[in-house]
Amino acid sequence: MAILNYDNIFELKTKMTSYIIGINEAGGIQNLHWGKQVNPEDCISLLNPRHHSSFDQNVEKEREEYNPWGGLFYGEPSLKAMYADNVRDLKLACSEYSIDRHGNSDQLTITLKDLYYGLQVDLIYRTQDEFDLVERYCRIINNGETPIMLENACSAVWNIPEAEEYRLTHVTGKWACETQLRSCDITEGKKILECRKGSTGSSANPWFAIDNGFANEEAGDVWFGALAWSGNWKITVEKTAFNNVRVVGGINDFDFAWNLKAGETFETPVFVGGYSDGGFGGMSRKLHKYQMACVMPKTHADEIRKVLYNSWEATGFDVNAAEQVLLAQKAAKLGVELFVVDDGWFGSRNSDMAGLGDWYVNTNKFPGGLDPLIKEVNELGMDFGIWVEPEMVNPDSDLYRAHPDWVYSFTNREGSLARNQLVLNLSKNEVKNYILGFMTDLLSQHNIKFIKWDMNRPISEPGWMEAPLECQREIWVRHVQNLYAIWEELRRKFPHVVFESCSGGGGRVDLGILRYADEFWTSDNTDALDRQRIQEGFSYVYCPKAMMCWVTDSPNWLNGRKVSVKYRFVSAMMGSLGIGGNLNEWSEEELNEAEEMVSLYKGIRHTVQDGTLYRLSSPRKGNTVVQYVDNNIQESVVLALGHSQQFGDAPGRTRLRGLDPEKIYSVRIDDEETFSMSGKGLMNIGLFIQLRSDFDSRIIRIK
Ligand code: GLA
Repeated sequence: MAILNYDNIFELKTKMTSYIIGINEAGGIQNLHWGKQVNPEDCISLLNPRHHSSFDQNVEKEREEYNPWGGLFYGEPSLKAMYADNVRDLKLACSEYSIDRHGNSDQLTITLKDLYYGLQVDLIYRTQDEFDLVERYCRIINNGETPIMLENACSAVWNIPEAEEYRLTHVTGKWACETQLRSCDITEGKKILECRKGSTGSSANPWFAIDNGFANEEAGDVWFGALAWSGNWKITVEKTAFNNVRVVGGINDFDFAWNLKAGETFETPVFVGGYSDGGFGGMSRKLHKYQMACVMPKTHADEIRKVLYNSWEATGFDVNAAEQVLLAQKAAKLGVELFVVDDGWFGSRNSDMAGLGDWYVNTNKFPGGLDPLIKEVNELGMDFGIWVEPEMVNPDSDLYRAHPDWVYSFTNREGSLARNQLVLNLSKNEVKNYILGFMTDLLSQHNIKFIKWDMNRPISEPGWMEAPLECQREIWVRHVQNLYAIWEELRRKFPHVVFESCSGGGGRVDLGILRYADEFWTSDNTDALDRQRIQEGFSYVYCPKAMMCWVTDSPNWLNGRKVSVKYRFVSAMMGSLGIGGNLNEWSEEELNEAEEMVSLYKGIRHTVQDGTLYRLSSPRKGNTVVQYVDNNIQESVVLALGHSQQFGDAPGRTRLRGLDPEKIYSVRIDDEETFSMSGKGLMNIGLFIQLRSDFDSRIIRIK
């Protein structure tokens, strides 16, 4: 049993950790310990009120597991609500608890109830033993007879154990520059990570990691959490004057209001938290394994991701059957297994000015429809995939002309265009049904095995004027709930289809959509050097299998950088490999090299995609070196990418990780001769990885 109750103290025990909470006399739920395993009995003395002065009473509330706004609490609240009689003071106390099994995990439910009104909050905890994680969310229930207006409804509060100093690590970004790692000291006050754009966004990602400033890649205590939500989200890291650091997170309360009617329940997204004593690398490995075992859709989680080709960078909107066939033939020769047609195949979509919303094939471009191309692709031995952007509409489209009222908009206001498009009001059931309808037709009428689902602009002017006033601000949540419902239904109906989540690159990367998506489009930036920093930040949280990386043309379209075929491949082999260049322009020599690289990747991809990742050297410090070890510790792969060698310096030694010390491994660096070395030697002495000049790369295969 992973959850134990000891005299009002609960221990949520995982393989290596204890998460201990206790119910105090006032019915408040205090966090007592989170980290390495301890005896719950040792925590009893911590369950005390902490009075400082009349100006600072109830200091123990700063370490509570959930903070409804009411009474003498002034920190960042996790719940704020107003009753029908305008009372805005929440007084919730623990009324009962239950412990049961939920799938493969133990579940603790602590029920809080308002002392007078019919508001109930169930705090739900699930342990994921194997990964030292605790999943948390809340069920907010209106047991009364009148509506309750929720103004803030977070998933969880994480209390970080006391330390002398605290450091926050997070990511920031923008289009073509996602998941850039940052860290900063946490001083008194608040640091807010958030998105208000209606999706996950690329300016931040719903994840945090906190340490005492000394953790590194392989050592040190790190507390971390990731929120499973693809809409407006907010993670507040707050340090109080009493040296308490608390992380409050969930759906963003900005412009949020939810009218919880009598008898209704509001469920918050899951916020998963964990502790690692193995530094940031240990944190990532726990998160990766958890995603593959518990989050990603079961239908494809264990399958190897196919090598794909996507024609977007090659053709842009100018797609047509004849040219796609030519590209497909070239791609098949390289060993590609999945051929994907991107934007431009439907309606009058000749640029981003028109056509979004008209999801029928453009017969000028594909005179016989999609099927002749699909047949050709299948005969070449590849699956067929296609791009869609269902939540959007161009004003210049048949859909918009027929349903101008289907977009978010305010009366007397013209909606702002972004990429010449508007956002459909997916909060409306008719819009949801329309999307489900055309996607069902598309997938049932053609042999499509892969969907790239895009979202190329944020929500703005979020008006839903015909809804009752008290429900209009629900759109931020309803949009995402309906999106999830559509994906869930499509996955149920078409279990063989692989889904990729994209939003102008990596703008919809989170654990919420990963319950429905098999992979992410990491970034529209496909430059092999820039990608190393993007992929490093991505890999802090998300697993290599879900990270799609393409090899594209050189010079790169975004920055004009020229690098070799090999360098581009080694960079893209760090996750699931794709090719996105204009193969019609590649020389025979380049195509031959690409064919060899694809075949080499197929020999290592089980280790990359399903193995364990160790980041050996960071692109922020110079060269990128990453290592993958397969689950039987029989095989390993090291990918090394140099930036620029300077001053004739000799390469440093790279010590490998995760091998069996007693095994003797054969090591092969590129095409050089194989030599043998013990696991001990590889891990304690290391390898000299020669990276010469500029943009050199090495692939090291270890068996
Ligand atoms: C977004 C995606 C690209 C491509 C284009 C098509 O930018 O990130 O990969 O699909 O849309 O318009």
